[in-house]
Amino acid sequence: MSNGSLEDVRVETAQTFRPPQLAVIVPSYNERDNVELLYEKVAVALGDTPWEMIVVDDDSPDGTADVVNELSRVYANIRCLRRFGRRGLASACVEGMAVTAAPYVAVIDADLQHDESILPLMLAEALSGADLVVGSRFAEGGSAGDGLSATRLSGSNFANKLAGMIAGQAVSDPMSGFFLIRREAALAAAPKLASDGFKILIDLIVTSARMGKPLEIAEVPYTFRPRHAGESKMNPLVVIQYLGLWFSKMTGGALPPSFLLFGLVGGTGVVVHLLTLGFFTSVLAQGFVVSQIAATLIAMAWNFVLNNNLTYADRKLKGPKLITGFLSFCAICALGGIANISVANAIYQWDHQTFIAGLSGAIMSSVFNYAVTRAFTWK
Ligand code: GDD
Ligand code: MN
Repeated sequence: MSNGSLEDVRVETAQTFRPPQLAVIVPSYNERDNVELLYEKVAVALGDTPWEMIVVDDDSPDGTADVVNELSRVYANIRCLRRFGRRGLASACVEGMAVTAAPYVAVIDADLQHDESILPLMLAEALSGADLVVGSRFAEGGSAGDGLSATRLSGSNFANKLAGMIAGQAVSDPMSGFFLIRREAALAAAPKLASDGFKILIDLIVTSARMGKPLEIAEVPYTFRPRHAGESKMNPLVVIQYLGLWFSKMTGGALPPSFLLFGLVGGTGVVVHLLTLGFFTSVLAQGFVVSQIAATLIAMAWNFVLNNNLTYADRKLKGPKLITGFLSFCAICALGGIANISVANAIYQWDHQTFIAGLSGAIMSSVFNYAVTRAFTWK
């Protein structure tokens, strides 16, 4: 560049820069030994289509982000968005989509299970009018190959059936983590997506339809491959989070998944409370008040730990924050208890229906505890 005038910058940029047509978003957690190979394969597949890769890494302990940053010093079209203190596949994809100017975005796993060679075909489908193109293992010509164990395959079939009940459109692989979408369509739905969990595709489909902008969907078959290096992050938590998402969609989105999980945890807390109460009164032969206090504390600790690991897995408290978090949780639940009793009493005074009064108090305190712990304990 000769003298640094803005005009020179513009001219020079116009000569060399081809703005990306497609952004390939790669959510990653502990994928150090996969990202370079993935980049190379995608680069070969996309040939001279202008594209970029955005790896969204949740500060993986294995140093995935360092590997990506090294690659960024070799190739101009790859960068890493590194997030701290956060976890979550779905939110990683959304944030990756939010930092690109490419009109089309694709999501692909880092572990090479998805066949990158169909990307040009997926882009072609989108260019000829589809809003969303799903890489499908179950469409004609596709296969789950050796990528899924027998247990995973039956779990996947069941999850697909549930998804079919909320999708409202035919999709052969609604659990796919491999898809390409018009960026505008994805970002329009983004503010309304459930940020926790694994299942962003079904959420995009259902949310767009509910917003009155149903997606025009195309599918491209492929064969799912076994993971290259590292380990899967799929676990029972992912399954429970998916059920939370499903129930939430079944209520027409009226109840957020985290409220349903919070309620579920609360239900198990009641069981723990009653069991502890029984144990203290009968086995330890303690008086009622002592036993009730012990049962309350244990049930609160139980609820706190479960909510921290399940309901709020994406913003899990760790270290010293566990203690302050637990204290604020107890304080808020105590307030919730007072709200419960006053509401129940007011209603009871009014019509003397014990059950209705009790239930209203319980609902009142659940909503209160949910809303306030969400704002303070897990902010
Ligand atoms: N940033 C971020 N944060 N990335 C994550 C996280 C997270 O908390 N958890 C997982 N990932 C990344 C992984 O690093 C990988 O690149 C991708 O998301 C998929 O994770 P895997 O652990 O490989 O999932 P899987 O193979 O068990 O499940 C895949 O296949 C399923 C269908 O069988 C995913 O694509 C699922 O979405 C899909 O339903
Ligand atoms: Mn995988």
